[in-house]
Amino acid sequence: MLSKKLIKLICIGAISIFTFSSFVGCSSKGTSGTASTKKKVKIGLSIDDLRLERWQHDRDLFTAAAEKLGAEVIVQSANGDDTTQYSQAENLISQGVDVLVIIPHNGQTMAPIVEEAHKSKIKVLAYDRLITNSDLDNYISFDNVKVGELQGKAIVDKVPKGSYFMMGGSPTDNNAKLFRQGQMNVIKPLVDKGDIKIVGDQWAKDWLPEEALKIMENALTANSNKIDAVVASNDSTAGGAIQALASQKLDGKVAISGQDADLAGCQRVVEGKQSMTVYKPIKDLATKAAELSVKMANGEDLATNGTVNNGKKDVKSLLLTPISVTAENMKDTVIKDDFHKLEEVYKNVPKDKWPK
Ligand code: GAL
Repeated sequence: MLSKKLIKLICIGAISIFTFSSFVGCSSKGTSGTASTKKKVKIGLSIDDLRLERWQHDRDLFTAAAEKLGAEVIVQSANGDDTTQYSQAENLISQGVDVLVIIPHNGQTMAPIVEEAHKSKIKVLAYDRLITNSDLDNYISFDNVKVGELQGKAIVDKVPKGSYFMMGGSPTDNNAKLFRQGQMNVIKPLVDKGDIKIVGDQWAKDWLPEEALKIMENALTANSNKIDAVVASNDSTAGGAIQALASQKLDGKVAISGQDADLAGCQRVVEGKQSMTVYKPIKDLATKAAELSVKMANGEDLATNGTVNNGKKDVKSLLLTPISVTAENMKDTVIKDDFHKLEEVYKNVPKDKWPK
């Protein structure tokens, strides 16, 4: 918890930033016309955990997009700790942000912050992960059930029959459950048919690779290494699992999924150690989230494409489409979008094997 003294200091700091930006706003008013007559939007971005590569992209892209729209972003990251994230969000409210954008570590634990924000007339946008059972204003994400279906499909195409290990994500992340739902949409009919046997099913705390490594080591021991496929829910957990497979010389032999198109994940895909990843164009997500945030702050209409029920209400949502990526389409997706450079992704692959 932050001490009262520290909160006071941060508030004084915030007031000076505010005073400074109002001053800048006033001085430009007369010269740059209508755009500057609107007050500068201040966005609070509360991030679960910057230890994972994925969220560093989101932070940078969101901030750049919001600044381009003339907004100011105050970023906080909680390193996967619920209490820290909650007090950071409270602090953003007391700094007088116009809108709160939250990537919750735990979508349930963060629910009361929505009410706190509303008391101060601040709207809340859940970014990538839903905040459940709350009066949440808006939600932006990818179609997360579809992500799971893409993972399941890629793995059953490679291994239509055999022993499967299910490596779930963080048990506190609503998305982890949606990925599993999508995976099972594809895998369950084959389990019922008797083609696939699920030999184990575990969830990696906080999506950490070291958790996945331990889980995979134990699963290999328990099954005398007889595992044909691993349905891992993202690249960080796939990375941990592949480390365990490698120490048994099974990397590249056991099919394994991922998600996020992390650089290390993409490298493993083109090196044949990971079967696929799911690329979610984060730039689109971050750019659209920045646009939504500014509109929410200004009370304008939002272009959403559906609703998602969070247990309390149907939340107006914008859901984007994920893309399945293998070595075959790496160049036409991740690299084409400049998410990573060809030289980086193929760094460990002999040059004559690079795509033309
Ligand atoms: C999920 C997110 C994934 C993945 C994971 C770990 O909520 O949708 O893309 O990165 O968290 O951070």
